[in-house]
Amino acid sequence: MTAPIGLFYGSTTGNTESIADLIAENIGFDKIDRIDIAADGLDSISDYQYLILGIPTWDFGELQEDWADLWEIAENANVAGKTCAVFGLGDQIGYGEWFLDAMGLLHNLLKAQGAEMVGYWPIEGYSFDESKALTEDGCQFVGLAIDEDCQHGETFARVEQWSQQVLAEFDML
Ligand SMILES: Cc1cc2nc3c(=O)[nH]c(=O)nc-3n(C[C@H](O)[C@H](O)[C@H](O)COP(=O)(O)O)c2cc1C
Repeated sequence: MTAPIGLFYGSTTGNTESIADLIAENIGFDKIDRIDIAADGLDSISDYQYLILGIPTWDFGELQEDWADLWEIAENANVAGKTCAVFGLGDQIGYGEWFLDAMGLLHNLLKAQGAEMVGYWPIEGYSFDESKALTEDGCQFVGLAIDEDCQHGETFARVEQWSQQVLAEFDML
């Protein structure tokens, strides 16, 4: 049986996978299925009304490779009417001009299909030059911002807080 929430992620060096595990731990393993898109693709996205999607940014603002491979499928995933939250991984010091850009691209892809987007997150506490993962007013990230390269010490508390926020926005508390 499928859980109510599907968490789909791509991860090249394992950081996004670790955060997926941490989110599942915080949300409750019974409520969430974790799907590594490199192994299982995106076919089961239609099984879930509630979605969490995780993507790191690579190579100066580019999509992570597994997401890049499946991007056309993602564009036609038919998520209209589903409630979705995204999380992204990046490096605000090493790649401060492209911080979390891929999360912004994924958010926009889902929103363009008519998904209800939740899980927005404050920009306070981060330092970067530019990002495509900001809301139009520039005051928030469009999803949870995680930086394992520069702010690993913040990660646990951020994931804990965001998981509760998303559960409330999914109306599951
Ligand atoms: C070659 C390289 C390019 C990167 N490019 C970006 C980038 O453009 N923007 C960004 O925010 N982070 C960038 N990063 C940081 C990664 O997103 C970060 O290390 C992330 O945690 C990797 O996640 P993964 O282990 O799930 O693949 C880059 C890292 C490397 C090694």
